[in-house]
Formats: sequence, C-alpha cells, structure tokens
Amino acid sequence: MRYQTIKELYNEVMSCSKCRLSQNRKSIVFGEGNIHADILFIGEGPGAREDETGRPFVGPAGKLLDNMLGDIGLKREDVYIANVVKCRPPGNRDPQPDERECCIGYLRAQVAFIKPKVIVCLGRISAGVILGREVRMMREHGTPTRVKNFTIIPTFHPAALLHNPDHEKDARADFQIIAATVKEMQDA
Ligand code: URA
Ligand code: SF4
Repeated sequence: MRYQTIKELYNEVMSCSKCRLSQNRKSIVFGEGNIHADILFIGEGPGAREDETGRPFVGPAGKLLDNMLGDIGLKREDVYIANVVKCRPPGNRDPQPDERECCIGYLRAQVAFIKPKVIVCLGRISAGVILGREVRMMREHGTPTRVKNFTIIPTFHPAALLHNPDHEKDARADFQIIAATVKEMQDA
C-alpha cells in the first residue's frame, strides 16, 4: 500500500489540490468514524455544512442518516462515513468524472485501512463509482452484491429522501437489510 498509516493518508488528503474542487472549498472533508467499523457509508461529496465544518454528513441529510442508523441500533461513532470526493462541488452539483477519478484513490486507501464488511453506497453517484457501472436506484436499492471480501449495498441518498419522502420507507427497509447482512458476515 502507498500509505503506511491512515494518518499519512490523512495528511496527504489535507494538503490536496489535485483537482478543481480545491479552488472553492472551505474545508477538506476526509471522513470520520470508527476505523475498525464493519460498515462504511460512502456519500457523494461534502455539502455546505460539511464544507464549513470539515465533517461528513452533519447537515440535514446527516441528521436523517443518524436517525436511520438509530433504527438499527447504531450511532455514527460505530460506523465510518466518507465521500467519493473530499471537497465540495460548487452549488452541490454532481462531482464530475475527472474529479471523481482524481479523488478515488483516497477512498480506495480508506477502504484498505478500514476493511469494512459492508459498504453502503448512499445514492446513485456513489453506487456507480463503487460498482463501476450505472446503477438504477429504484431497482437496485437494498440489493447486496458480493465483491471480493466486501458486500456492497446501494441505497437512496438521504438528501434525496428529504426531497422525496416517498422513498423513506424503502430506505429504512434497506437499513434492516444492511443490519442483517453485517450480522451474517460477522457470524460467517
Ligand atoms: N451529502 C453527501 O453526499 N455527503 C456529505 O458528507 C453530506 C451530504
Ligand atoms: Fe484533492 Fe479530492 Fe479535493 Fe480534488 S476533491 S482537491 S482530488 S481531495
């Protein structure tokens, strides 16, 4: 691995200006949580609150994520939460392919340190990056895919749920699948 320690990785990310997203950011949002977590949540990229605080999922979408974690008996400290890109895309636009490409090595290194059992992709962009293909969330949410030692589960982005609460019930059902999958893998 390129990085001996996660601290070394952290330091590199915190001084990164490899892509244009470095130009307008206030903070770099590395990610946070339990470095030994069984579940890694991967969002898209920092929003306004995250950009201000340097922490992932601390705005309205983060509140909903915390609440859904609570449904399955977890706190955010129990899991790890990161994003595909570490700097905020201006106006919350989608991170562009070249920006994702530029940043993805950091996420890969995070995965290698954390070695989660389950990777939960929050939203279409994250799922697309992690599974390496287009993902249709309506059809694929809550469906586990085994890739190497990980089980990957896509679900709705919490920000999308705030816009369209119709899917919240499905998302909460996905969290039950997430909990059951982790338990299965822990018992295996
Ligand atoms: N949305 C994301 O995708 N990531 C965050 O950290 C916050 C909101
Ligand atoms: Fe570097 Fe990623 Fe930020 Fe781009 S988004 S500047 S690659 S940390």
